[in-house]
Amino acid sequence: DRVLLLNGPNLGTLGKRQPEIYGTRTLAEIEAEVAEEIRGRGWSLVAEQRNGEGELVDLLERHRDVAGAIVNPGALMVAGWSLRDALADFGPPWLEVHLSNVWGREAFRHVSVTAPLSSGVVMGMGALGYRMAARALTLMVPES
Ligand code: DQA
Repeated sequence: DRVLLLNGPNLGTLGKRQPEIYGTRTLAEIEAEVAEEIRGRGWSLVAEQRNGEGELVDLLERHRDVAGAIVNPGALMVAGWSLRDALADFGPPWLEVHLSNVWGREAFRHVSVTAPLSSGVVMGMGALGYRMAARALTLMVPES
């Protein structure tokens, strides 16, 4: 089985992007950590990052057969309605991750249109949050 790790806009520059908020780990490092975390369950990783909402929707259409997914929608959390619709019709369990604690930031980040559809949210733990979400999926998804 496979797990989809989907990162939205502006997350491809992790490591350099506002490191005081998002930390210094690169997306490649995070993807490697997630892959390592799910390996014990015999799962492999499909890791994708796109800046465009439509491309994220395409990827959700393409990878409907995964065991689970980890999604950081970036700023699309605020008003990504077509991403939300795609997630509403996405069958596998998925977890939303935010590196920063969005509740402690600007008011416009306090509501996520996607998070209510998720099985759970990890936020504020930086890059570690992805690893936590991966570990949670390995424990949440029943053995088949
Ligand atoms: C983010 C939080 C969002 O509000 C922001 O737009 C991002 C990153 C996070 O991981 O903390 O791009 O999703």
